[in-house]
Amino acid sequence: MEITVIDHPLVAHKLTVLRDVETDSPTFRRLTEELVTLLAYEATREVRVNPVSVTTPVAPAQGVRLAAPKPLVVPILRAGLGMLEGMVRLVPTAEVGFVGMVRNEETLEPSTYAERLPDDLHGRQCYVLDPMLATGGTLAAAVRFLVNRGADHITCICLLAAPEGIERLTSLLDDLKVPCTLVLAGVDDRLNEKGYIVPGLGDAGDRLYG
Ligand code: PRP
Repeated sequence: MEITVIDHPLVAHKLTVLRDVETDSPTFRRLTEELVTLLAYEATREVRVNPVSVTTPVAPAQGVRLAAPKPLVVPILRAGLGMLEGMVRLVPTAEVGFVGMVRNEETLEPSTYAERLPDDLHGRQCYVLDPMLATGGTLAAAVRFLVNRGADHITCICLLAAPEGIERLTSLLDDLKVPCTLVLAGVDDRLNEKGYIVPGLGDAGDRLYG
């Protein structure tokens, strides 16, 4: 799995404000969207395009347009929903599908409680949104779900990850036959005994919607 941690002062600045326990929900939501737009710029580097010709007011010109089928953006509910606006701002023609997953607070294992995705994802590029990659179980299950439906190119966009989670995600998806990339704003120190990223930013779902 290819992993990119964005090294940019604006990303670092926004992430720092997100981490701050004093940051209120409206600011947290706005900053999450802004951060995702910055990450999405890098995350869409491999988005498929076709060559096209247009005519400018001056002369014919060669360019590109996004290829069909449209990219599919998949926020993992609930916290991933806070990333959706920031993503579709950059790719407004993308289709959006939803997966609802929650992590059991005792076992830390994810379970799926909702799913609204196209049945057939053959030939689709998918962008999975989830702010936190903690143990990696949730993201691995979501990626597996999309690949089982036929998706042939996956990019995961997360705000923060724990090193343990990246390692587990990589090993859980070891046998994946399609390209899978992970784009992050930062990698933190570790997971604590409750499966929270340290120092992290707390429970992203609660800070967005709680
Ligand atoms: C959080 C987070 C990820 C998941 C990460 O969601 O948004 O989806 O936990 O954990 P993992 O890497 O250990 O699997 P949560 O289960 O708290 O649900 P929520 O988004 O509804 O708050």
